[in-house]
Amino acid sequence: MKFVIIGIISYLIGSFSSAFFLGKAIKKIDIRVHGSGNSGTTNAIRVMGFRMGVLTFLIDFAKGAIAVLIGFYLEGYNGGLLGGICAVLGHDYPIYIRFKGGKGVATSIGALAILDFPMALISVIIGLIVGFFTKYVSLGSIVFFVLNPFISIIINNPNNRYLTLTTVFLGLLGICRHKSNIERLIRGNENKIGR
Ligand code: G3P
Repeated sequence: MKFVIIGIISYLIGSFSSAFFLGKAIKKIDIRVHGSGNSGTTNAIRVMGFRMGVLTFLIDFAKGAIAVLIGFYLEGYNGGLLGGICAVLGHDYPIYIRFKGGKGVATSIGALAILDFPMALISVIIGLIVGFFTKYVSLGSIVFFVLNPFISIIINNPNNRYLTLTTVFLGLLGICRHKSNIERLIRGNENKIGR
């Protein structure tokens, strides 16, 4: 029963689409019809400016972190894993705005930072380096999603296979959510930072 409660609470927390609500409340726009159409940090920066982007990132990061902490509190480490997964599902498919949400990067970072800080830190740093040098945020995000399972296996206690499975699930979900970015990257017309 506690797992069901964790799942529902975390999904509802994740469903709070910060880029959408900040856009509506402060800029009077629907971010989903501007820029890339994504309700996430990168598009918030692109459409609403750097400060709104930072705020979007912090809120989305906090959603993942809080959901994991609630899961920890109610059902230990596995409760935290479920909380993280459901928060990201909520972010990507938010119930409050007809299931059209984001790509789960900041929320996954928030969840994984609590579940395994060194793993999340290494993947984020490598993802940032890739994003910085290529100027493709989406490529950095994809690298982040791809790396987590491998880093989890390398640095974790082998008993903790549920964390690795969680990173595999979040990775596959995150990569699927970047389908349009991957298509643009292949075609060579993906949005670059600063353009
Ligand atoms: O934050 C998601 C990022 O990886 C891509 O965002 O808006 O360029 O599709 P966007």
